[in-house]
Amino acid sequence: MSEQPPVSRHPHPYTGKLIIVEGIDGSGKSTQLLLLHKWLESKGHKVFFTEWNSSELVKATTKRGKKNKSLTPTTFSLLHATDFASRLYHEILPPLKAGMIVLADRYIYTAFARDVVRGVSPEWIRKLYSFAITPDMAFYFRVPIEVAISRVIGGTRGQFKYYEAGMDMNLNPDVTESFRLFQSRILGQYEKIVDEFQLITMNATQDIESQQNEMRRLVGEALKGYKPRRGTHGRRTVFWRRFDEPKSE
Ligand SMILES: Nc1ncnc2c1ncn2[C@@H]1O[C@H](COP(=O)(O)OP(=O)(O)OP(=O)(O)O)[C@@H](O)[C@H]1O
Ligand SMILES: [Mg+2]
Repeated sequence: MSEQPPVSRHPHPYTGKLIIVEGIDGSGKSTQLLLLHKWLESKGHKVFFTEWNSSELVKATTKRGKKNKSLTPTTFSLLHATDFASRLYHEILPPLKAGMIVLADRYIYTAFARDVVRGVSPEWIRKLYSFAITPDMAFYFRVPIEVAISRVIGGTRGQFKYYEAGMDMNLNPDVTESFRLFQSRILGQYEKIVDEFQLITMNATQDIESQQNEMRRLVGEALKGYKPRRGTHGRRTVFWRRFDEPKSE
């Protein structure tokens, strides 16, 4: 891109820490984030977890759109942006303001990689997410496509879903071949994003334990100056009411 993209690169002003994971399907993000979550809690930290495409606000619509295969690249993208905006204000910012550690399974870079492969413009998608805050740590799990395929097939799911295989793009009638082509293109986009946003690259072909040790070492380093704060995690209702909605909402 010729111009400076509109995505913030400044640190966020909150007392908590935002740690996010990125990578293609089957790269091992959730496995690593869950282990990190347990470790942080064992160290006495208050941790809040949030994941891509999980807000109640758009869940039913996204599900319906996926079921009847009516999503277009733009509606797909806008629904995910709405999901993200909702979770940012209701799930990410409140615990960060309360000094907690927020773990996010996928962040805006997922949209930058996937939606661009679906055909939306890189500039448009970066502008769309310009309200996002910069994570304190962003891990990218780099894995060759064949490793991801074998993990998804060998895992609990055992098969590819229609949209994760990019079947809406008519790349190939065979779902595994479509996944291979679609996710390979996403890998290509991620490689650009890693440089553009300086994501921390993990060798995701390594065994689970080695990667987790490396992640804990890096997170431990980054948390050195961080003073754990007593979160109000258990008292949710009071907790949420303490934070006002931003004026633009
Ligand atoms: N380092 C690893 N070595 C071997 N298998 C792994 C490794 N990490 C994860 N797996 C396995 O691969 C499968 C996919 O892992 P996981 O669900 O963590 O991936 P993901 O990146 O979160 O995928 P998705 O984007 O689809 O949610 C799981 O069955 C998991 O147990
Ligand atoms: Mg996952």
